[in-house]
Amino acid sequence: MRIDVVTIFPEYLEPLNVSLVGKARTRGQLDVRVHDLRSFTHDKHRTVDDTPFGGGPGMVMKPEPWGEALDSVAASGEELPTLVVPTPSGRPFTQELAVELAERPWLVFTPARYEGIDRRVIDEASTRMPVEEVSIGDYVLAGGEAAVLVIVEAVARLLPGVLGNAESHRDDSFAPGAMADLLEGPVYTKPPEWRGRTVPEVLLSGHHGKIARWRRDEAFRRTAALRPDLIERCDPATFDKHDRRL
Ligand code: ADE
Repeated sequence: MRIDVVTIFPEYLEPLNVSLVGKARTRGQLDVRVHDLRSFTHDKHRTVDDTPFGGGPGMVMKPEPWGEALDSVAASGEELPTLVVPTPSGRPFTQELAVELAERPWLVFTPARYEGIDRRVIDEASTRMPVEEVSIGDYVLAGGEAAVLVIVEAVARLLPGVLGNAESHRDDSFAPGAMADLLEGPVYTKPPEWRGRTVPEVLLSGHHGKIARWRRDEAFRRTAALRPDLIERCDPATFDKHDRRL
């Protein structure tokens, strides 16, 4: 997969050199290119923002540098990229959307600062390429760069060969399958006793059926306590007799 990010803070994207995403890059599974929006300005001050038409506080990002940047990035590949615009007024970012984005060959991110990007940039881009405006949650960040890091990490780990163990996303909270729509329960590793605390017996029993049952019960209990909205959204046909008693 190819990923381009256009930003006024290229250094903000340094974490893309680290850990899972960094490794995927060195293995050639991810081609990440970060571009400085200011290199598409032509004035002495490399201006990227201006006051909003209609008045109001803050500044709006000017269309010209964004237009030139997107033209340049789009012309540098064979395929059509998907434009991902991080904004608190976008479609909520979910595991489902991560899966959808992981199927695209090329994503271009446009993290904004200030009050956002002149609307015409997104409207014009959407005549040429698919556009997803995406929010990572109901809070306002100082800019979209942190949202890009979140989205890229969630997408990258879904790419074939990026996670060491392909089974690792099977039981993820929000992964499709038997535990669909349930939060993951607790996990334990060695030693079996730590600071007087032991590991639940069942996990040491070697009884796979009982372990699966326990994991599902824990997931169900945790979800009911923290995210009752997820239980309400579940298809009751996916509940078994045991769930109903919890
Ligand atoms: N930019 C500012 N806040 C944001 C959010 N919640 N999601 C995505 N981009 C943003």
